[in-house]
Amino acid sequence: MKITKICCIGAGYVGGPTMAVIAQKCPQIEVTVVDLNEERIAAWNDENIDNIPIYEPGLGKIVAEGRGRNLFFSTDVEKAIDEAQIIFISVNTPTKTYGKGKGMAADLKYIELCARQIASVAKDNKIVVEKSTLPVRTAEAIKSILDHTGNGVQFQILSNPEFLAEGTAVQDLLNPDRILIGGDPSEEGQKAIQALVGVYSNWVTADKILTTNVWSSELSKLTANAFLAQRISSINAMSELCEKTGADVNEVAKAIGMDSRIGPKFLKASVGFGGSCFQKDILNLVYIAKSYGLNEVADYWEQVIIMNDHQKRRFSNNIVQTLYNTVSDKKICFLGWAFKKDTNDTRESAAIYVADDLINEHAKIAVYDPKVSRKKVLADLDCLETRTVSANAASVVSFDDPYEACANAHAVAVLTEWDEFIQYDWQKIYDAMQKPAFVFDGRNILDGPTLEAIGFVYQGIGS
Ligand code: UDX
Ligand code: ADP
Repeated sequence: MKITKICCIGAGYVGGPTMAVIAQKCPQIEVTVVDLNEERIAAWNDENIDNIPIYEPGLGKIVAEGRGRNLFFSTDVEKAIDEAQIIFISVNTPTKTYGKGKGMAADLKYIELCARQIASVAKDNKIVVEKSTLPVRTAEAIKSILDHTGNGVQFQILSNPEFLAEGTAVQDLLNPDRILIGGDPSEEGQKAIQALVGVYSNWVTADKILTTNVWSSELSKLTANAFLAQRISSINAMSELCEKTGADVNEVAKAIGMDSRIGPKFLKASVGFGGSCFQKDILNLVYIAKSYGLNEVADYWEQVIIMNDHQKRRFSNNIVQTLYNTVSDKKICFLGWAFKKDTNDTRESAAIYVADDLINEHAKIAVYDPKVSRKKVLADLDCLETRTVSANAASVVSFDDPYEACANAHAVAVLTEWDEFIQYDWQKIYDAMQKPAFVFDGRNILDGPTLEAIGFVYQGIGS
């Protein structure tokens, strides 16, 4: 099948960058990204490319190149579905906040809505591709909705999980480690797989395109994220032991990472992992295991989350203890609010939880993040529902200038590993702070001995 039109439902952190790269690499295909959120679509269409809603290095250039040529952003979901041969579903699947599976299972209401919309609009055969991370066997549910509510047309459901990491999305999309496509073993299913393989073949070599059955593909995504998060919780567990024993977690990480069986990546001890995927996917895995009665399997993976929550709390407790057991009315400056560098995404960022703990201790939080607005910082805290909106607003101030954010602070806490923090004039920061001046480095990016030489009391994770 010759593919000439693709649509993607959901113009978020996954849908936006993925479709921009497909449009760049497949000039013969018209790619339309649709979303219910009018503000978001308007931002994707903003003449000023700096105003697109997602910050990713290199993304602006690719969007600017394709927009209006073969890349379109629209709120007309039905038209895009009607015209496309392949429909990607890239909507959010947050953890459920109500009912059965609350706090664990994935909320599939957005996915179901998409399936129903596709069923009601489609007038010819379609390939529907799951791009969002989904619980195993979701494809089955989508298929059932499509087959029972559709207009009698044939649907093939494929699972094609996205492995891009935020902050490096463009590079990950251009040079993926692998592309995974799961589909039905039937002849029609295999044809659909080949149609999607054909799209990726425009820039990915055949040896990197893996095809499996649908469930292997769905479960592989959850497994990959569980393994990655597990490495972080493992090194974070060692960081606490290092702090007690005098070992240095960075040295331990380097020593174990040189074992080729372990490898050097994803061994950076930190204040805890954040992001939209790791916690959600592990909770989902735990829920699935429990639903099959596999309690030991569920407990094993849940421990990765328990360790991560412990690490965040340990960081805030450490700040309070070190500042003479009280942070009441003290200004604590947060450098960074995003869950990692090079993104404006703050979902599940450790900064939110550390701030929440410190506000409970009556601290005043000053935030500087190069890409996150004050509105977003407050919205993140409000979502926790720990206190009133006005109480949050009274406890947090955002600054556009890092030196102003740090001025008169009792402590600086590094919550995101933005490169620019390393370049700062730390002598200037020290001079403007309350004494003794403390630095808590939740990302281990600053040079401890140099800061100590200036006069700071330096504490990095695990050192
Ligand atoms: C992750 C997966 O990497 C990606 O394949 C999947 O598609 C989505 O989930 P993402 O959440 O965007 O991507 O970022 P990632 O680079 O994995 O970082 C997640 C969190 O782990 C961040 O908070 C990061 O700071 C933290 N982290 C990462 C560590 O604390 N230490 C490390 O060594 C690596
Ligand atoms: P992700 O990180 O998975 O891309 P985001 O929350 O950034 O998640 O993006 C998901 C997008 O999907 C949001 O912009 C949301 O408005 C959109 N969305 C959710 N449900 C629908 C739907 N039924 N039709 C169109 N867009 C939808």
